[in-house]
Amino acid sequence: MKILGFETTCDETGISLIEFKENKKLEFKILAHKLRTQVEVHSKYGGIVPILAAREHKKNLPILLDNLIKETKINLKDVDYFAFSYGPGLPPALVEGKEFVVRLAKRYDKKIIPVNHLLAHFYSILISKNKLNIWQKVRKIEFPAIGLLISGGHTILVHFESFEKFKKLGETLDDAIGESLDKAARILGLEYPGGPKLEKLAKKGKPLFNLPRPMVNQANFNFSFAGLKTAFWELVEEVRRLNKLEEAKADLANSYQKAAFETLIIKVKKALDRYSVKSIIVTGGVISNLTLRKMFLKFFKNKKIYFPLKELSTDNGINIAFASYFFIEKALEPEKLDINPITTI
Ligand SMILES: Nc1ncnc2c1ncn2[C@@H]1O[C@H](COP(=O)(O)OP(=O)(O)OP(=O)(O)O)[C@@H](O)[C@H]1O
Ligand SMILES: [Mg+2]
Repeated sequence: MKILGFETTCDETGISLIEFKENKKLEFKILAHKLRTQVEVHSKYGGIVPILAAREHKKNLPILLDNLIKETKINLKDVDYFAFSYGPGLPPALVEGKEFVVRLAKRYDKKIIPVNHLLAHFYSILISKNKLNIWQKVRKIEFPAIGLLISGGHTILVHFESFEKFKKLGETLDDAIGESLDKAARILGLEYPGGPKLEKLAKKGKPLFNLPRPMVNQANFNFSFAGLKTAFWELVEEVRRLNKLEEAKADLANSYQKAAFETLIIKVKKALDRYSVKSIIVTGGVISNLTLRKMFLKFFKNKKIYFPLKELSTDNGINIAFASYFFIEKALEPEKLDINPITTI
């Protein structure tokens, strides 16, 4: 069975073609993977401009699909399903993706599989190799698990009995962790997207500055990063007034990352104290951060921890094509898959 998956929820246009063996052994092969980022378009605005994101998707989707067809020589008649990420995401960007896929599916008379973007981030941990044209098995996960999604738009803690049965424990009440890292980076004068640039700068510094670990003493599993960002802004302004900003930038970046990341660790620890689980799953763009990966591995060294491959942590078409397979098999309705829907089909 071949599935073509499309990702257009935010500022990455992704298309991937994956083949699954029909023998229930859960073997699959990535046949193609096309990804185009819009960083250059948005960076001059300091963040994502939804209408520009939509325009870029509209421009990029046919180009990427054409490249994919040329590379694989696939005839779209031979694709069994067209999957797309229906949300959550930026509404204008979602519309472009959906309309493109609906038109294609109509033309080839194929079924569409709508995929929840957040669940696709979680399912991505099941992929162990990002190599084209090799058969691989779906990774086995030890459940129950505590899941943490840390991305540009979300910070969500989930209890998974399995990937079919789960409960949201808590989420951010304001900024998402990725958004907060991007804003902290901007305060330091780094370009969008700031998360990776902050990571690089933080490596050259030390955690010399004190910053709060928000909500860690509360008996719930929610997060809040807006106050941390404000505290950081005030700190940076104070250092600037002292004319020490340039020399302190790396230490400031390091201190911010440490405060934000320790907050995540403390909340996951609280969830582990409450629920008896066999493993921890951490997914989403922010887990591209190698410092954070090391912190998780060090702090929870007695627990099994699953991360996605670094390059599958941020948005891409592989995650969507891959996750969609499980929704065909289980015949789940999109509404039942929502963790935190903003837009549904
Ligand atoms: N190395 C890194 N360190 C820290 N943050 C990073 C790193 N790489 C990417 N990020 C952050 O990850 C976020 C993007 O992740 P992702 O693509 O999963 O988010 P999104 O799709 O925009 O949001 P969502 O999945 O919630 O809809 C950005 O905020 C970015 O700064
Ligand atoms: Mg995402």
